[in-house]
Amino acid sequence: MGIWSVLFVAFYCLSSLSEGVLVPRDTPCNTVDNGYQCYSNTSHLWGQYSPYFSLADESAISADIPRGCEVTFVQMLSRHGARFPTSSKGKDYKALVEGIQQNATKLAGKYAFLRDYEYNMGEDDLTGFGENELVDSGLKFYERYESLARNSVPFIRASGQDRVIASAEKFSDGFEQAKSGGKRARKGQERAKIDVIIPEGDTFNDTLNHGTCTKFEETKPGDEAEDTFVETFTSAIRKRLEADMPGVSLTNKDVVHLMDLCPFDTISATSDAKELSPFCDLFTEEEWENYNYAKSVEKYYGYGAGNSLGPTQGIGFVNELIARLTRSPVIDHTSTNHTLDDNPKTFPLDRALYADFGHDNPMTSTFFALGLYNNTKPLPKTSIQDVDESGGYSAAWTVPFAARMYFEMMQCRTGEGRWEIGQPLVRALVNDQVVRLSGCDGDELGRCQLDDFVEGLTFVRSGGNWDECFS
Ligand SMILES: *[C@@H]1O[C@H](CO)[C@@H](O)[C@H](O)[C@H]1NC(C)=O
Ligand SMILES: *[C@@H]1O[C@H](CO)[C@@H](O)[C@H](O)[C@H]1NC(C)=O
Ligand SMILES: *[C@@H]1O[C@H](CO)[C@@H](O)[C@H](O)[C@H]1NC(C)=O
Ligand SMILES: *[C@@H]1O[C@H](CO)[C@@H](O)[C@H](O)[C@H]1NC(C)=O
Ligand SMILES: *[C@@H]1O[C@H](CO)[C@@H](O)[C@H](O)[C@H]1NC(C)=O
Repeated sequence: MGIWSVLFVAFYCLSSLSEGVLVPRDTPCNTVDNGYQCYSNTSHLWGQYSPYFSLADESAISADIPRGCEVTFVQMLSRHGARFPTSSKGKDYKALVEGIQQNATKLAGKYAFLRDYEYNMGEDDLTGFGENELVDSGLKFYERYESLARNSVPFIRASGQDRVIASAEKFSDGFEQAKSGGKRARKGQERAKIDVIIPEGDTFNDTLNHGTCTKFEETKPGDEAEDTFVETFTSAIRKRLEADMPGVSLTNKDVVHLMDLCPFDTISATSDAKELSPFCDLFTEEEWENYNYAKSVEKYYGYGAGNSLGPTQGIGFVNELIARLTRSPVIDHTSTNHTLDDNPKTFPLDRALYADFGHDNPMTSTFFALGLYNNTKPLPKTSIQDVDESGGYSAAWTVPFAARMYFEMMQCRTGEGRWEIGQPLVRALVNDQVVRLSGCDGDELGRCQLDDFVEGLTFVRSGGNWDECFS
């Protein structure tokens, strides 16, 4: 899609928001290349509840495959698509809406919709919009890596929850759709499908989800950090909402729940999420910035550098990545399942394309185990820190619904800089943003030599702080 169509979409989304009307019917909010671009001053500030949107334009480094280079290997790590609220949150949301309806003596203006709003969202599973996000992801993956994808399907694993499995299936559908280009598949041609499902829970080793590190599971420092930050900005909103809806009394947590309803109602209502929920209009852009920061703080102190056991939860996956990149057996004593990983049927080492599906939290741990955000300033819990796309960490940029990391290995022709011929180079893209690798000597395109990269992963190869899980 060209720049003019992007601008066109952006223009319509913005103008329609300010006028309170819908985006024109034939203007897409969501595209294969750019993800969700409507109402972006709100929808890109929903933390992990943002729909996937491409950060390609925000990257200092082009996301294009560098000239003269051929991609030889790709590991994708993907989050499931947009989902309904979890069952426990759903009960809270429903009770809150009903409480407002019972107590309010007046619901007028932008609150009027609440008079007959009925909470009836599903639970836990993908929404129709979320399914579409994953079909789009499969299309995009095929198109980006067509030179490899034309002749081989990705080896696909999914963590065992329904929405994750459904996401991997929708991705496969999109991949096959792009491959066939409308034509029927050739007879005998291998079709992309899920190869391994790893069960979730505290008795299973699962590199796509945490669960077995006892000490990590017992504490929730991320939630505590989020609560601390939430106190800094919700009181003012609570007072305004209570004044606007006489008879209603709210807690600061209720304020956050009303904000949560904006993304959830938007991604549940229609399969293209084109109608922005009326819950969104109850808050200002600055309030969405605070909301997004609260979600980022939760990830950072729960699964990232803010928790001494956070990055450790991502080690198993990174050790698997090392094995795949170097085509050698997995060496890991954290969360890998050796029964699976020592078997070439369930953990082959000779593939060019791999796609794994999981959740936002383990992906956050994996990004931090890789050291992707090692150069980010720590996130204070009591005041919002300004972050910019080119350098900062945010939940919306890293783990929105249908988030994806592409870890690429490439072989480049001579004249490409100081590398010797034949040295494979690796780099990481998070939602199309090239994130500079740390721990190795990266070039101007954010790439390191494979050997140098693996050597720099001392934290991962040594097992990080896994020993502390049981102390
Ligand atoms: C490892 O995987 C095997 C094969 O799927 C399974 O039977 C076993 O329960 C798993 N063990 C752990 C600890 O995850
Ligand atoms: C509604 O009123 C009941 C009874 O006073 C109270 O327990 C509840 O918290 C109120 N809920 C809201 C949303 O105002
Ligand atoms: C988003 O930007 C539009 C256009 O600049 C503006 O009218 C609207 O109020 C903004 N939305 C929020 C939530 O601030
Ligand atoms: C599961 O992980 C633990 C801790 O690393 C390890 O001791 C155990 O052998 C693993 N189980 C399997 C089946 O790999
Ligand atoms: C990232 O930072 C952590 C904590 O300082 C360190 O242990 C790890 O080695 C770093 N990772 C890389 C790849 O540089």
